[in-house]
Amino acid sequence: MSPHLLNQPLRLPNGTVLRNRLVKSAMSEALGTYDNHVTPRLVTLYRRWAKSGIGLLMTGNVMIDRRALGEPGNVVIEDESDLPLLRQWAGAATEQGAAIWVQLNHPGKQSPKGLNARNISPSAVPFRADLTNFFETPHEATEAEIEDVIQRFGRSAAICKKAGFSGVQIHGAHGYLVSQFLSPHHNQRTDGWGGTPEKRRRFVLAVYAEIRRQVGPEFPVGIKLNSADFQRGGMDEAESAATIRALADAGIDLIEVSGGTYEAPAMTGVTAKKASTVEREAYFLSFAETLRSTVNVPLMVTGGFRSAAGMNAALASGALDLVGIARLLAIDPDAPARLLGGHDSPQRVQPIRTGIGLVDRAAMMEVMWYTRQLKRIGDGGEPRPGESGLWAFLASVAHSGWGSFRTRRLRA
Ligand SMILES: Cc1cc2nc3c(=O)[nH]c(=O)nc-3n(C[C@H](O)[C@H](O)[C@H](O)COP(=O)(O)O)c2cc1C
Repeated sequence: MSPHLLNQPLRLPNGTVLRNRLVKSAMSEALGTYDNHVTPRLVTLYRRWAKSGIGLLMTGNVMIDRRALGEPGNVVIEDESDLPLLRQWAGAATEQGAAIWVQLNHPGKQSPKGLNARNISPSAVPFRADLTNFFETPHEATEAEIEDVIQRFGRSAAICKKAGFSGVQIHGAHGYLVSQFLSPHHNQRTDGWGGTPEKRRRFVLAVYAEIRRQVGPEFPVGIKLNSADFQRGGMDEAESAATIRALADAGIDLIEVSGGTYEAPAMTGVTAKKASTVEREAYFLSFAETLRSTVNVPLMVTGGFRSAAGMNAALASGALDLVGIARLLAIDPDAPARLLGGHDSPQRVQPIRTGIGLVDRAAMMEVMWYTRQLKRIGDGGEPRPGESGLWAFLASVAHSGWGSFRTRRLRA
């Protein structure tokens, strides 16, 4: 298979040029301090990835509010106190010709029990019964809280620009706050923020508009969105497509398509897959194909891509402009060099199992196992693709409990 398509540069509508079509999708590193500052490990990790020749690196989700963490060790950008290290982080990528965008997130209700003092969501909808041990029922966000979150997205984006990052991405997928507003299941409001598809998408449009206001017209701003939530009563493909059209009309620079939530983790392929999906690797390709005919905005698809042939075939289909990969880069940080040369990585992304049913059905295990590999690379070492799932789970649970405790103590 010719490596030609994956190697082609892409010019975004605002003039930004990406050196090729391969993108590292966001993976939460949890490599911040327990009081949520940037660490040199992030610089080391991103320097390693940038050296692989990849075109664009999306950072793992960075929080916009210290009071609203998704997990211990998140980086928070809400003021300029970390500018020197943020500049090093951005420089680790850009000095080697890769672009680096910061993924900005607010977790809303999707935050482990006990980590934050108050979790907000559009409505006070409890989690699925078997997840209530891990997550608590959120508070319905007040009007003032909603306005505050919108402002914060803009402020964090402006700091990223000042620090030398090449762009930002709104995390609008996977069941976090933006995704909660878009979901008829999580958003049961009857005021100006819910009740109809137009009102549900008002929040994401307001977040985008505020970021744009604070970073100006030239700075790239993208979003990661679910094709669907894969959850009863959640956002469906038609509503997602309508939201994407509205964002495209508003001038967004890049749409990344994913899917699922912690309650229905379609993003990592844990849910059942159709034979056609397995054959074409990527989980959300057919949605991108339907989008293509209705929106004129660069599209990226993430989830399931493994081989150079699969990536080039997807690009050849014309359904997308950029190929997103995540887990493969945690077990083989040098994979882009091979893929761009038309060769596959010797490493295989396999389901991570602990043998504990509830854990294996949730996306949490995957995240924990891969996060451990990211830490190793951040420490200047090598990942361990053969690490036992059960061992990684037990070590991560202990670490996460300790992390929540430390985070609360440092905040007190
Ligand atoms: C450890 C880990 C952390 C992740 N963190 C994020 C995140 O912060 N933001 C996000 O949008 N997706 C996150 N994801 C999802 C990935 O970006 C991606 O959508 C998913 O892994 C499917 O792509 P893949 O099949 O290439 O791994 C994470 C995945 C893993 C494994």
